[in-house]
Amino acid sequence: TPGTPPTPQESTVTDKYAYAFDIDGVLIRGGRVIPEAIQAMKMLNGENEYGVKVPYIFVTNGGGKTEQERCIQLSQQLEIEVSPGQFICGHTPMREMAEKYKTVLVVGGEGEKCRHVAEGYGFKDVVTPGDIIKDNQDTTPFRKLTKEEYENSRSRNFGQHEIEAIFVFADSRDWASDQQIILDLLMSKNGRLGTRSETFDEGPPVFFSHNDVVWSTSHDLTRIGMGALRVSLEAMFKAVTGKDLKTTAFGKPQIGTFQFATRLLQQWRKDTHGIDMPPDTVYFVGDTPESDIRGTNEYDHHAENNWYSILVRTGVFQEGTRPRFQPKATVDNVLEAVKHGIEREH
Ligand code: G3P
Ligand code: MG
Repeated sequence: TPGTPPTPQESTVTDKYAYAFDIDGVLIRGGRVIPEAIQAMKMLNGENEYGVKVPYIFVTNGGGKTEQERCIQLSQQLEIEVSPGQFICGHTPMREMAEKYKTVLVVGGEGEKCRHVAEGYGFKDVVTPGDIIKDNQDTTPFRKLTKEEYENSRSRNFGQHEIEAIFVFADSRDWASDQQIILDLLMSKNGRLGTRSETFDEGPPVFFSHNDVVWSTSHDLTRIGMGALRVSLEAMFKAVTGKDLKTTAFGKPQIGTFQFATRLLQQWRKDTHGIDMPPDTVYFVGDTPESDIRGTNEYDHHAENNWYSILVRTGVFQEGTRPRFQPKATVDNVLEAVKHGIEREH
C-alpha cells in the first residue's frame, strides 16, 4: 500500500554509504540503552521510507570484555544481532602485539576479565597487578587482595622475570595501586620488579587502549576515564624521576583505528552483503569531539572516500559549549543522525 514503509524483507542494501557508531554516549549510557538507538537500528535495517538497508559497524574506545561478550550484550540492548565482525573496541588493535612481547602486565577491568581477553589475543604470559601484590603484599600499603582476588592471582618471584610491556586494557578499578605498580616497573632495570634504574629510561613501554580524558556514563556530568589516568601517570613519573614519560594510546582519534575500521567495514559488507567496492561515504556518529569528531575529520583527509562526522547531544558534548573539533552536522540523538544521513543520500 502506498504510504506504508516497506518491511525489512522488501528492502535492498545500499552500496553507496555506510554507518559507524561510537557506543558510550551515543547508543548506551551507564549500561542502559539510549531509547532512540533502538529505532535508529531499525531504520538502518530497512524500516525507512526508501526501503533501503544500510550496513553499519561499531567503533568504541571502551573495553574490558571479549569482543564476543560485548556483542552479546549489545545485541540484547539494541534488539538486533551484533556480530564481532562489525565491532572494534579500544583494545582490539592490541591483538597485533601479542607476538612482540612475551611477559606483559595487563591493567584495568573487573576481576580476571582483561587477563582472559589478553590471553585470547594470544599473549603468552599475562601478569596482573593482583599477581604482583600476591607475591609481595607490601607493594601497595593501602590495598589488600580480597579472598577471591587472592585465589585468582598467580604468584611467582617477580624479581626473576622481566616484564616487557604494560597494557592498560580498561579503566583501572584502583588508581593508587595500579599506578604504584606501573611506576615501579617504569623505574626498574628492564622491567624487573624490586630493582631501580639509575637512569629511569630502561622501563617497559606503556600502551593505553584509548585516550579519553572524560566519558559519558550514568552521571549527568562526564566522568574521568583512561586518558585521565594517562595524564596522571605521566605527571607522576615526571614528579618522581624528573624525566618525561612517553606513552602510546590506541583507539579513536588515532588514524590506525580508523584504518582498522575501514578494513572491518570492507570485510563486513563483503561477507554479509556481497559488496566489494568501498562506500562513497561513511557516516560516523559520536558524542566526543576530541576522539570521534577529530578522528573522523582527520581520517576524511587521508581516506579515498568521505568520512562524515555527526555529533550527538546525548553524551560528552553538551549544548552551550563549542566543540573543539567541528562536526559536519550536530543533531540531538542517534536517530536524528541516521535520518540525517539517509535524507542526505536520497
Ligand atoms: O571508556 C570508554 C569511553 O571512554 C568511551 O567509549 O564508546 O564512547 O568510544 P565510546
Ligand atoms: Mg562516546
